Amino acid sequence: MPIIPVAERTWAAVTPASTYLFGVETDTGTAPDTDAGDVRLVQWYWGPRLPEAALAEAALPPTPRQRSGFHDPRDIHELLPVDGGRRWGVPSLQAFYEGGVRSVELSFAEAVAGTDEIELVLRDETYGLRVGVHVRCADGTDVVERWVTVANEGAAPVRFGRLDSGSWAVPERSAYRCTGVYGAWAYETQLQRAELPVGETTFTSRTGTTSHRANPWIMVDAGDATEESGEVWAVALAWSGSWRLTAQHRPEGDLAVTCGFGHDGPSVHLAPGERLRTPSALGLYGDGGYGAASRAWHAYTRGHVLPAPREERPVLYNSWEATGFDVSESGQLELAARAAEVGAELFVVDDGWFGTRDRDSRGLGDWWPNPGRFPDGLTRLFDGVRALGMAAGLWVEPEMVNPDSDLYRDRPDWVLHHPGRRRDTMRNQLVLNFARTDVREWAIGWLDALVGEYHLAYLKWDMNRSFSQAGWPEAGERADMLWSEHTDGVYAVMDELRRRRPGLRIESCSGGGGRVDLGVLRRTDQVWTSDNTDARDRQAIQHGFSYLYPAGTMSAWVTDSPNPHTRRRVPLRYRFHVAMAGVLGLGGNLTAWSAEEFDEAAGLVEAYKAIRPVVQHGRLHRLGGTPGLTASAVQYVLDDRVVVLAYNPFSPDRRAPRRLRLAGLDPEAVYEVVTSEAGATAPVGSRRHGRTLTALGLILPSFLPNGPDYRSELLELRRVRTP
Ligand code: DGJ
Repeated sequence: MPIIPVAERTWAAVTPASTYLFGVETDTGTAPDTDAGDVRLVQWYWGPRLPEAALAEAALPPTPRQRSGFHDPRDIHELLPVDGGRRWGVPSLQAFYEGGVRSVELSFAEAVAGTDEIELVLRDETYGLRVGVHVRCADGTDVVERWVTVANEGAAPVRFGRLDSGSWAVPERSAYRCTGVYGAWAYETQLQRAELPVGETTFTSRTGTTSHRANPWIMVDAGDATEESGEVWAVALAWSGSWRLTAQHRPEGDLAVTCGFGHDGPSVHLAPGERLRTPSALGLYGDGGYGAASRAWHAYTRGHVLPAPREERPVLYNSWEATGFDVSESGQLELAARAAEVGAELFVVDDGWFGTRDRDSRGLGDWWPNPGRFPDGLTRLFDGVRALGMAAGLWVEPEMVNPDSDLYRDRPDWVLHHPGRRRDTMRNQLVLNFARTDVREWAIGWLDALVGEYHLAYLKWDMNRSFSQAGWPEAGERADMLWSEHTDGVYAVMDELRRRRPGLRIESCSGGGGRVDLGVLRRTDQVWTSDNTDARDRQAIQHGFSYLYPAGTMSAWVTDSPNPHTRRRVPLRYRFHVAMAGVLGLGGNLTAWSAEEFDEAAGLVEAYKAIRPVVQHGRLHRLGGTPGLTASAVQYVLDDRVVVLAYNPFSPDRRAPRRLRLAGLDPEAVYEVVTSEAGATAPVGSRRHGRTLTALGLILPSFLPNGPDYRSELLELRRVRTP
């Protein structure tokens, strides 16, 4: 029973490893500068799981801080601090009422409780605003889910400057450090870790998408957590549009993280009678370091987010890096034949198959086979793909249009635009307004028809530009709603498509990893991690990605050498071993690979298929040094199986690890090496105790100093004897 009542107006979300204790604090008005009835929803505690008998004693008012005529610090512990009354921190909810009134005053109405969910209902009686603060906790996860619903029961519209999913207070510690990711196109999910200064640290996207530049999650520790140990508090937002996450480190020492959809500027509009639900914010506490926190997120994503988590993702071939826009039936079938031979199970035709699309400046929006290239449609191509034993997949970019397209000539009003303003293109394209129901209906119509006609098993759903001049003239005062309703529209189309085509699987892509988040993963199966397929760069990208998202969602292709993006030459084996750490795909020009490369590739694809369940569904451990820079490894554990992929891009670093210490093993058990490229140091059939493997480690050839660059190896062990 994850949500339990503790005392009068106090509840606890009890997870296997944590307790999240919260309740209603109502001022009696007897203390100076307080008002009778003034309500705060307060987080009493968030940390290691407390015994049930201790819950009531933990529901104490937070340690009093100095209050003065200038400051009342109590809002730092609130679940939803409002812009109103004696609060000067970052508001999670900021409302503007009729006549410019903007100090929100809430009273507590009721708690609507279920076993795994509770709604605390608040009301701003004067203006008829109902606010529901929701807390949910599913069985078996340490993730606590929170969101807010607002309903306008008044007579006039309400506008929100901020409508976050909630604020999370991190308990008092002597210091606070944050971990997160930043990036850019082809440089996504770069890990960064820094002390949180006193002040407000904001991570945000203003692009209308999740964005390459930041990802909506944060991990906080007291400066002492490591990969393997230490307390970590994490917050993530399940949302694929613009967002903002602010960590407030107060001068008096406390810390809270508030996050939600939307960025500063556009406002949320709620007409009388309307109701709105924010996206979910998810909080996780653990005391096993960053590694355990990541594993908890992965387990949550598999257990509670992904639509088809138990399926194994196929090895796909994608034509983009091989052909670019130069797509033809014969060219694709030639690649398909090679892809099937090397072991691919799914063949995805990328951009360039539709309308007049032979370059990026035309055809987007015209979703029928290019009449010059495919006069008889795509049936022959995809029948040919299936005859080779592969499933068929296709690239689409439903939210976009080139001005040079029939669609735009017909429906110029469908794009985001402001009257009297330019319509700036990026990559020669404009954004279709998915907040409009006619646009959604059009999209679902052609997508459904396309999937049906060609029996597609897979769509790669791309999105290649940020919003600009984001207006919606027909919507009047609701125009800003497009920022969230566009994302709702994308979700709705994906959901409806999946409903109509239950066998369809979807990959989320936005110029690489621009749309990776727990919102899109609710209706997609994997994400395109980055357009940068250089194996060494990719290691750093995959490292940051792994902090929140499981390997079974991470599309990773092996492409050509030199890499088309970086011109770096990396051996085929290394490229494979890096891509095998996620959902393996192939993206190179297979027709140009030598016979030796081809045979080696086929062997590696086969090796991947053998370890695939462990990589895609196992528990991930990040081992060794800095990925892409020094010797490092990723390890996956599923039941008795242990898979290790070890890498050493360069040899000169003398401080790099020489032995690989494994993790997450049963210390009393014995493990046998079943696959090894390590030769004498870990031959097949050799046995080691779990304790030796974790305490002392393995000597791997790729970790030894003075070897060539780009050494890598795959190792599999099996637990053969348990105590
Ligand atoms: C961006 C994607 O990330 C690429 O993989 C490819 O699909 C191109 N778009 C096609 O335009």
